[in-house]
Amino acid sequence: MSARGDRTPAWAALQAHFNAEGHAFDLRQAFAADPGRAEAFTLLAAGLRVDLSKHLWTARTRALLIDLASQCDVAGQRDAQFRGEAINGTEGRAVLHTALRAPAGAGPHSDEVQRALADMLAYAEAVRNRARAGELTDVVHIGIGGSDLGPAMAVQALAPHALPGLRLHFVSNVDGHDLAAVLPQLRADRTLFIVASKTFTTQETLANAEAAKAWFLAQGGTDTAAHFAATSSHRAAAAAFGIDHVFGFWDGVGGRYSLWSVIGLPLAIAIGAEAFRSFLAGAHALDRHFAETPAELNLPLQLGLLDVWYRNFHGFGSRSVAPYHQGLRRFPAYLQQLEMESNGKRVDRDGDLLPFATSPVVWGEAGTNGQHAYFQMLHQGTDVIPVEFIAVREPAYGFAPHGALKERLADQHSKLMANCLAQAQALMQGKSFDEAVRETAPTANPALAPDVLARHRSFPGNRPSTLILMERLEPASLGALIALHEQRVFVSGAVWGINSFDQWGVELGKALCHRLLPRLASGDTSGLDASTAAALRWARGA
Ligand code: F6P
Repeated sequence: MSARGDRTPAWAALQAHFNAEGHAFDLRQAFAADPGRAEAFTLLAAGLRVDLSKHLWTARTRALLIDLASQCDVAGQRDAQFRGEAINGTEGRAVLHTALRAPAGAGPHSDEVQRALADMLAYAEAVRNRARAGELTDVVHIGIGGSDLGPAMAVQALAPHALPGLRLHFVSNVDGHDLAAVLPQLRADRTLFIVASKTFTTQETLANAEAAKAWFLAQGGTDTAAHFAATSSHRAAAAAFGIDHVFGFWDGVGGRYSLWSVIGLPLAIAIGAEAFRSFLAGAHALDRHFAETPAELNLPLQLGLLDVWYRNFHGFGSRSVAPYHQGLRRFPAYLQQLEMESNGKRVDRDGDLLPFATSPVVWGEAGTNGQHAYFQMLHQGTDVIPVEFIAVREPAYGFAPHGALKERLADQHSKLMANCLAQAQALMQGKSFDEAVRETAPTANPALAPDVLARHRSFPGNRPSTLILMERLEPASLGALIALHEQRVFVSGAVWGINSFDQWGVELGKALCHRLLPRLASGDTSGLDASTAAALRWARGA
């Protein structure tokens, strides 16, 4: 039986540790005192090298957090997940995404998983062949949330591995501007539409799919069987929509965990069957690491425990993700759903209100763009926001640059790396008032006292960050990176005693939308609050 984190002796010990020394921990002193600190806090998993040394913790903090994991039986909860037990209590479902990336013969439901994978990959290869033959030029993937963010992010990340000449588009928003921007680029007879919806009831996706079908027919398209496919766990609904090629998956695969299932079809089309299998293998390697590695070296475990340490003891409310790779620019958006839809909960598994905070706000932007936008706040704002830097050592542009361009791109890559490392360094080191006084040159405003300016120019430092280092951004390493985040979210959810696999919080807004929609046509505002009524009248132009 797993205990909720706050009810364990380890939680009390962590609070005492925080009160005694944790709150006053200083990274600069820690590095000065221990030359082995970087090594002691760097972990390796599935080809990823992750430096956790710039975090506000000591060996003692880490040991206490590991005690917490053990008293919450995170290992037992993890094993139940891997065994395919029905750990999603409020929906009465197993959690099966790890089974989708297990090799043949391993993991629950292996035969069905392998059959579904083989079918999907055979179709993906057939689509690639149609593209090679010039019959298809565009694939439009229609889906939202977990049926969009994963494939859209991964296709972008692995663009250099994609079949040249086949364009992939992702349409998610119910706002018709999304679809309308794509349609003029297409020829109906050269386009494949994939409608992706686990439930096949999602308003945005069905609206876009209906519009795409209407456009296809209006363009003279006839062979809908060849130009429409669907990925859904509700095959019958997809078939009723008029789609012949429906690739199914199971209720136990949550939307935000479904990239490994047939929802990954656009990725498989882009990179091919073999590379898609490498993608799954990279994620599986991370799963094995999570399942088999002792706590002292277990990367997702320690990342998840750090999240608890920061959220519940330091009180930090958000985490920023800074991928220093243009291909990963949608990774923060992907993580937002993964983490906030999973752990943005206020009751535990028994329905009891939680007396502590859960999911942080996760946000970010590709480095170096974020540096020129909000890094000011990360360095000098009043909130401490841990930052997760992701660096990729070997660039890949999808072609081999040569001559002057090769040199210029190599130089740009060095600049990218230097920026990434410098930001982490700056967050940690800061700049004292004395240093700022020494460096402060006369300003354009002679009335400003030098010490006032120095206060503006000093940095508190001691701000924590993670540094995730990847050799290359390729199918296996991307799979491992995503699985790492899935499992770290699992760990914090397990300590908090919440169900990380339901998402009731999205339902109320959907239901109210369904009730308001007919009122937009009728103008009926009876019973509405005054603000909604006024906005509805405004939306009708009344
Ligand atoms: O509204 C949230 C949500 O239910 C997500 O959990 C899910 O990923 C998304 O909607 C899309 O759902 P579906 O795949 O069923 O269209």
